[in-house]
Amino acid sequence: MPKKLAIFGSGSGSNAENICKYFSASSDIEVVLICTNKRDAFIVNRANKLNIPVYIFTKYELNNFTDLHKKLQSIDVDLVILAGFLLKLPTIMVDSYPNRIINIHPSLLPKYGGKGMYGSNIHKAVIENKETESGVSIHFVNQNYDEGEIILQEKCVISSNETVETLIQKIHKLEHNYFPVAIDKIVKKL
Ligand code: GAR
Repeated sequence: MPKKLAIFGSGSGSNAENICKYFSASSDIEVVLICTNKRDAFIVNRANKLNIPVYIFTKYELNNFTDLHKKLQSIDVDLVILAGFLLKLPTIMVDSYPNRIINIHPSLLPKYGGKGMYGSNIHKAVIENKETESGVSIHFVNQNYDEGEIILQEKCVISSNETVETLIQKIHKLEHNYFPVAIDKIVKKL
């Protein structure tokens, strides 16, 4: 039986699509559901095109974690993947899936993590602080924002003429190359 993944996202969903395509021919891993708190996010269009069921929920439903939990139980989810999901998970959800929730963060944690640090805010801060490198961190989710055990980190160099846009592209490339690899690694240990 393949291990079942549910991917959570709030935005464009390029990582979600990349993960779905990467494992589309796999007999070990299957993406069974895409979950979002934003019904008009582009991740929904991508899921529809990939023929993957979408579950849309409100912030209240996330925090209350009753219907969403039932949904995840009904599909027998093995691993929850946060790919650009921008709401903090409630304690009850984290406790229900210990070491079964993975997040990707577009910086070298613990640098540029925590509240308010997401998407282009991070890249802007990295460039303003004249960092010489940045990268991606893939980590387990625990009770504290961006502080769970690191599974994998990959770096990129910041060039002297780096802009937020060029850095987003560099980071996305790293994310698309390494997120499926990290998921594969974790699934093999389940
Ligand atoms: C990714 O860069 C991901 O690392 C970031 O949002 C982007 C989503 O892109 N996540 C965070 O900032 C979480 N704190 P995508 O929707 O194209 O996959």
